[in-house]
Order: sequence, then structure tokens, then C-alpha cells
Amino acid sequence: MKTIKNPFSLFSEWYDEELKLSDLKIPSAVCLSTFGMDNYPNARFVSFKELVDDSFVITGPLNSRKGIEIENNNNVALTFWWTATEKQIRIQGSAKQISEVLANKYFNERSTTSKAVSSVCEQGQDIDNLQELETQVLDKVSNHTELNKPKDWSGFQIKPIRIEFMVFKSSRFHHRTLYEFEHGEWHEKQIQP
Ligand SMILES: Cc1cc2nc3c(=O)[nH]c(=O)nc-3n(C[C@H](O)[C@H](O)[C@H](O)COP(=O)(O)O)c2cc1C
Repeated sequence: MKTIKNPFSLFSEWYDEELKLSDLKIPSAVCLSTFGMDNYPNARFVSFKELVDDSFVITGPLNSRKGIEIENNNNVALTFWWTATEKQIRIQGSAKQISEVLANKYFNERSTTSKAVSSVCEQGQDIDNLQELETQVLDKVSNHTELNKPKDWSGFQIKPIRIEFMVFKSSRFHHRTLYEFEHGEWHEKQIQP
């Protein structure tokens, strides 16, 4: 096992390469896995925002299912599969809530419709009247008034302890490199396909 500075520059290099080549509408999609309150693993796609202080940032409502699950157990996983470059990245780490300043920045970057949906909807709650919810969203959009970030809308920065980079090979002899953070340092090794 080799000691290295950190795996983040490799992540950025791979991500930039994928963004250049990808024709997907949402190439930032990443699968976020959490521990469900019932102990079943729970996974869903979210959008990866950026690396901040060597942590992976994602956003969404804190009072959603994922938010509640992370509050209960902040050990999470992120999984990227990049189709243009045929690469997979697996990340395990611990999540903590992002600052209010960062949350406001990401909220302000959202489209008006996304802001309106976040302002009107309580993600994951039962729907009494779908039509009424949609009308409320459309009203917010057409009002053209400034839409402020809802109190519970924020995000998480995930500090990794383990990152696996895999180059998918059609031969199935995939190239896998595992980075692990131990005793204050990143260590690197190759693992079998
Ligand atoms: C490509 C894609 C990107 C998504 N991005 C986000 C996101 O950034 N934040 C978010 O809260 N939900 C996002 N969603 C919706 C989630 O998959 C999920 O439905 C939602 O977060 C509710 O999950 P929960 O009930 O486990 O909290 C995205 C879905 C897809 C398919």
C-alpha cells in the first residue's frame, strides 16, 4: 500500500473528462445511499454539486427521508457511474450539514421552477390534492417574486474515508484503485477486478 497526498485531484480529473464527453442532461447524478430507519439500505439519485474542503456536496430538504436518515446515522455512500468514460467511483464517508451561506448559494443557483417546487412541497409527504400543489407552484413561478430558501432546505458535505476508482473494461478485467484514509493519510492500492 502506497501513501499519497489525496485522491481528490484524480476525482476532479475524471469528472471533468466525463463532463466534456457526456451528452447526459444531468451528468452530475450520483446515487446516495443511507441507512434507513428500519435498517434497510436506502438509495436514491441526487445531484453532486462540487467538492468543498475535500468533501462532496449534495443538497435537498433536511426534513426529507434522506435528511432524517442522515441525522440518525451520518455514515453514507455515494456511487457515480459515468457512461461516456465508463468509470465508476464509490465513496464512503460521513455527512454533515453544510453552512447556511453555502445552502443559500446553492438555492439561489436553482431555476425558478425548482425554487418554487422546494418552497411549496414537503418532499416525501403524502399528497392530498395534486392539482392544488401544482397550481401553487405555477402561481409562485408566475408571480415573479423573489423566492427565498425554505428553512429546512440545505445540504450535506460528505467527508470520505474510502474512495474506489474503477475503469470499466469490456474484458471484465476492470482496473480498480482503492484509496483509504487511515492515521491521517491517504493510502492507495490496486484491487482485483
Ligand atoms: C437525476 C436526479 C437528480 C436528483 N437530484 C436531487 C437533489 O439534488 N436533491 C434532492 O433532494 N433530490 C434529488 N432527486 C430526487 C431524489 O432521487 C429523491 O426522489 C428525493 O431526494 C427524495 O428522496 P428521500 O425521500 O429519500 O429523501 C434527484 C433525482 C434524480 C433522478
